[in-house]
Amino acid sequence: MEREEQDSIFASFSGKPDELISLLQAIQKRDGYLSQELLRQAAYFLKVSENTVFGVASFYSQFRFHPPGQNLVRVCMGTACHVQGGKQLSEEIEKILSIGSGETTPDGQFEFQEVACLGCCAQASVVEMNGRIYGKMTPTLLREVMKDTYGIS
Ligand code: FES
Repeated sequence: MEREEQDSIFASFSGKPDELISLLQAIQKRDGYLSQELLRQAAYFLKVSENTVFGVASFYSQFRFHPPGQNLVRVCMGTACHVQGGKQLSEEIEKILSIGSGETTPDGQFEFQEVACLGCCAQASVVEMNGRIYGKMTPTLLREVMKDTYGIS
């Protein structure tokens, strides 16, 4: 690979292997995720194997490998929400969006995540949509919110 083909983000790094995490963080901060191409470029730039780069990137949950959806739906799977039907909410989102946790719809409109406690257990079961908390949710209420807010059902 020629130097000029490298992404400009590499310019602020010297190319030492110990810069790997900082470089991955910088890429993700700019792009919102780590593309396969930039992971390969990072390996070349830092003179480490692609396996090393992929291994480190996949070890840390902070890194993501697909572009974020325009709308983020997070269903709490913490203990309080779980006993109040969190799994049913998760299954309802899967039906509505036709994707599983950790996935983004093909049109990039929605991303769905199952997450640990969202910090408002008294409102269990909790769903968060684009930062807004919806408490005491049921699958029926969830479907209504998705329809009223995003026009999908
Ligand atoms: S367990 Fe769901 S908000 Fe705490």
